[in-house]
Amino acid sequence: MPTNSEKLKFAKIVVKDKFYKIKESWQTSKSGKNALTKDPAYNAANPKHFIPMMDKERYGERSNAFDKIISATHKHFWDPLDKKYIDFDVPFDLENEHIVDPKGPFGLELDIPSVAEKLTDKQKIKLNNESFRFVLSQILHGEQAALSLSASLCHVLRDPGAQEYAANQTREEARHVTGFTKYIESRWGSPYKVGPTLGRVADDIVSSDVVYKKIVGMQMMIEGLAMGAFAMAHEDTNDPVLKTLLKYTMSDEAFHHKFGKIWADRTVPKLSESEHIKVEDWAEKIFTELLFNLINPFEKKEVYASVGLDAKWVQQEFEKHIDQSDVIKEEMKKNNNIFRVLVKTLLKAHIITDRTKATYAEFVDMDELNAEDDTVAGQDIADEGVERLSVINALKKSA
Ligand SMILES: [Fe+2]
Ligand SMILES: [Fe+2]
Repeated sequence: MPTNSEKLKFAKIVVKDKFYKIKESWQTSKSGKNALTKDPAYNAANPKHFIPMMDKERYGERSNAFDKIISATHKHFWDPLDKKYIDFDVPFDLENEHIVDPKGPFGLELDIPSVAEKLTDKQKIKLNNESFRFVLSQILHGEQAALSLSASLCHVLRDPGAQEYAANQTREEARHVTGFTKYIESRWGSPYKVGPTLGRVADDIVSSDVVYKKIVGMQMMIEGLAMGAFAMAHEDTNDPVLKTLLKYTMSDEAFHHKFGKIWADRTVPKLSESEHIKVEDWAEKIFTELLFNLINPFEKKEVYASVGLDAKWVQQEFEKHIDQSDVIKEEMKKNNNIFRVLVKTLLKAHIITDRTKATYAEFVDMDELNAEDDTVAGQDIADEGVERLSVINALKKSA
């Protein structure tokens, strides 16, 4: 015979189970379509509702949309902590050598005569290298945003295939965070803090519960921007360690970009006019915010201080000598330009229409862009990376 206390315990469990069942049917009724979801592969649960993830029917409802990019992950596997792939202990003479070509887009300040006149040759190298440390620090924060964002997608996507893809991307972004952290540590000790523009945009995208905002904002725009930035840095760097890090990272990023492209192919053509306006406006907002602020001198106070320059003075000289619009237009002509890559991604995905074309047309020839194929910038470098990684991985397996 059960004792009274045993009976009480049992009754409590029955009540808890009943409560769970009510919660289950309530959460299940709320789960499924996120804003603007047009393809079941992107159905998402409310991030605070876990019960619908255990729906027994869900496991069998796996789409094959991402199978190819999931299988490919083994081919481009790499480990930033394993010297067979990359050795961060190989030194670089930061005092006497430019880590990136100062004539490229990363060393704009040295083009200002009054700034250059104030600096010795060694200080010029220092300013250029510190500026690039700032760029790499922003890339590191961007990688953290991509890691948290893909983890958040993995948490809400209902399609087990989409979830497996997002889990893989999370793992890949985590190795990028490790890789860039190790590189910055080996060259400078620590990164700069996140600039307010990237910080704000990343916070907006990562903390949103809306799947399309996450995918357009991160997978298409920030990932596209990263591919452009990596391709430019890969071309301009004199440091073989950085070249390798960029190449391997790009081997992963090219696939992340593809995930965004698959979403666009399956979603954009099915959007109603008002839904299309929402997506188009969101993309335009992110583009405009990133465009001017990523090259502005207001975020680099500590960089200028490292060579004894006053940030306010540099900002004034910057404004006098450098027309940001002209720089952007000039740089946009180059194939690898980060914003050009971004505009091309949006244009090819039919996210830009005549409504917002003018915003982009100010900087880039839209007809010319439209006539190009839709290969993402840096795809050739990414392919080289995948090839090199498959050789290392095959050797490791046979060892
Ligand atoms: Fe990444
Ligand atoms: Fe990525």
